[in-house]
Order: sequence, then C-alpha cells, then structure tokens
Amino acid sequence: MANVSFTNVRKSFGDFTALESLDLEIHDGEFVALLGPSGCGKSTTLRMLAGLEFPTSGDISIGGRVVNDLAPGKRDIAMVFQSYALYPHMTVGENIAYPLKKRGLKKPERDEAVRRAAELLQLEPLLNRKPKQLSGGQQQRVALGRALVREPRVFLLDEPLSNLDAKLRSYMRAELIELHRRLGKTMVYVTHDQLEAMTMADRIVVMHGGRVQQFDTPDAVYNRPANRFVAGFIGTPPMNQIEGTVQGATFVVNSHRQPIKREAFAASLVDGPAVMGVRPEFVGIHDSGDGLPATVRLAENTGHETIVTLELPDGARIMSRVEAGRKLSVGQPVILRFDPAGIHLFEATENGARLNLDIPVAATLSQSA
Ligand SMILES: Nc1ncnc2c1ncn2[C@@H]1O[C@H](COP(=O)(O)OP(=O)(O)O)[C@@H](O)[C@H]1O
Ligand SMILES: [Mg+2]
Repeated sequence: MANVSFTNVRKSFGDFTALESLDLEIHDGEFVALLGPSGCGKSTTLRMLAGLEFPTSGDISIGGRVVNDLAPGKRDIAMVFQSYALYPHMTVGENIAYPLKKRGLKKPERDEAVRRAAELLQLEPLLNRKPKQLSGGQQQRVALGRALVREPRVFLLDEPLSNLDAKLRSYMRAELIELHRRLGKTMVYVTHDQLEAMTMADRIVVMHGGRVQQFDTPDAVYNRPANRFVAGFIGTPPMNQIEGTVQGATFVVNSHRQPIKREAFAASLVDGPAVMGVRPEFVGIHDSGDGLPATVRLAENTGHETIVTLELPDGARIMSRVEAGRKLSVGQPVILRFDPAGIHLFEATENGARLNLDIPVAATLSQSA
C-alpha cells in the first residue's frame, strides 16, 4: 500500500510561510494533481514528500509510515523534475539505466528495462545520444524513463510536460494516463495547467497562497467550486462572478431581478450583498425581453464555439459561450439571461465560500485565505 498523507504540515522559509496547514489523504494507486498558480506551494509540497525539504511541523507518511526522518533514497519514490537533471556525460540509455545499475541489476535486465521504457517514450532512436544532443522535450522524456525503470511505490512529477510543444504534450498526457492505469501506482503530479489536472487526475488539490482551496474530483471542482478562488481559476474562460444583492427569491444586479431557488442554498444565505457565479455556457444572449442589459465588446469564433465578451453599464465584464458562427457585432446592445441550473452564490468576501447546498464535504477543509 502506498497511500500518502500530510497531517497538519506547515512549511516556513525563515519568516515566510509557504504552506499554512496542509491536510491531505491520497489513496493508494490514486492520480492526484496539485494545481494552482505559480508560487502557491505545489513544488514545496512535492519536495517535502520526496524528502528534499523538511516540514517545519506536522507529519508526512507513505504507506502508513511516517517518513519525516527518512532519507529520500529510502522512501521508495521516484521524482521527475521541472529541470531534467540528466547526467551530461552519460548517453540516454545509460541515464535511464543508472538507477538500476546503482541497485546492482545485471546488464541484460537493465537493457530490457531500458528497452521497454524507450519504446513507451519513443526514445529508441536516441539511446546512444548524449543529453546535450537532445531537444528539451526529448530530455524530459529521458527523465521520465529514468523514473519509470525504478518501479517506485509513488511517482512524483513536477510540471513534467511544461517544456514540450502542444502536440507532444497532448500525446504525453494520454501516455501518462495509460501508464498510470497499467502500473496502478500512486502518482502526485504538480501542474499550473488546469487542462492537465482536469484530464489526468482522479482528484485535484487546488492550491492558492499556501492553502488547499479544494480537494476533489475534476467534476466537483468544475461544477461545485468551494469558493471564489476555485470558481475563478477553473474553466477557460473561468466562471463569471457578478456582485449584487440577495432579496428573497431573487438576486438583484443593477435593475435585473434574477430568480433563484432559495431552498437550494445554505441557511447562511441571508438577504444582502452576495456574488453570483455563472459559467459562460449558462449565459444566454438575447435581442429582447427580461434580463440584464449589456453590450457586446468582442466575439471570438474558435471554430467550434464563439466566446463573447460583454460589458454591463457599470463596466463589469461577463463572458458567454455560444454556438460557432453566431452573428454578433461589437457595440451591439443585448439582453443576458442566466440559466437557473447554472447559478452559484458566494459570500461577498474576497474569497467567499460557496453557499449552494450541494457543496462537497471535502471542500469545507479550507475555505479561508
Ligand atoms: N528554498 C526557499 N527559500 C525561500 N523561499 C522559498 C524556497 N522555496 C520556495 N520558496 C517560496 O515558497 C513559495 C512556494 O514556492 P513553490 O512551492 O516553489 O511554488 P509553486 O511550485 O507552486 O510555484 C514561493 O513564494 C517561493 O518563492
Ligand atoms: Mg513549482
């Protein structure tokens, strides 16, 4: 078993606190992505799990055993870094075989393991080259190969695809998903790219400012964001957040009264200021009728949909996602109507908590910050 847990882990560098209080339970065999903007503490979290940094307080365990004092080499993990960390004087084949050589495996076994990894990662024609004769993407694949042959209990990957071009990145995403399925190993994967986290992970740890904002499935972080940060981080474009006032069974924005199902929200929803969250796909654009008056500022046709930027009279911007080829001209006045099924309400604070009743339990972990 290689479940991983962080219990009340804090990490400070001098008087700067990089991680406030981290509690995570990662199941054996799970693919978990640590997702968040640059500087939120993803790499620090992974490096502590690897034994390259030490928690200021709290416990980290792998397979039920506290590893706080265990050297990196004794943790039975393999890590692929953002930088490739290849040995420049060794060939690709020697680099991949190195962990096995250190472990004392005989040459035929090493060669077979290298052959399998090279085949999987399309490195066969490159086995005799030196790292400096490879592109960045090829070097990253060698680093992946070197982690693979060790067959560790837990794989740690820190932005392993960041330096690959878009086509290879998409190919490698599919490869990593397949690899995880076949190996069944616990994987902890750091990325700032929501597409990677959403497509690859069983569960996503959304981080911001050294705190876990939400730890849940891709479906839940998209459809039931725990707070305004998650709502504004997940989705391209992300969820619209519109300031207004709750009045009984309506949410009032400017002079528009949006009906809401009061019973769908927590008891903490009281009349007064709140923030309405609505994804662009739930913002309908109409010529007339009831709704919120707005002006078209930009219509971007991507080929399979049109992303529309709209402006309210007070200057606030709202994004909508409509069918491809929809004819809209800049400056055109329109009426917006929101699908009641897509309405979220948040507290009117900076990172207000979501007030809908279907909020997942895991999301209540940490809503502050
Ligand atoms: N060795 C260190 N000394 C001082 N500050 C550090 C050190 N490592 C990381 N930090 C700081 O901790 C925060 C989190 O860093 P990091 O975990 O690398 O973020 P991420 O990987 O999410 O981009 C950042 O503000 C970073 O500058
Ligand atoms: Mg990082």
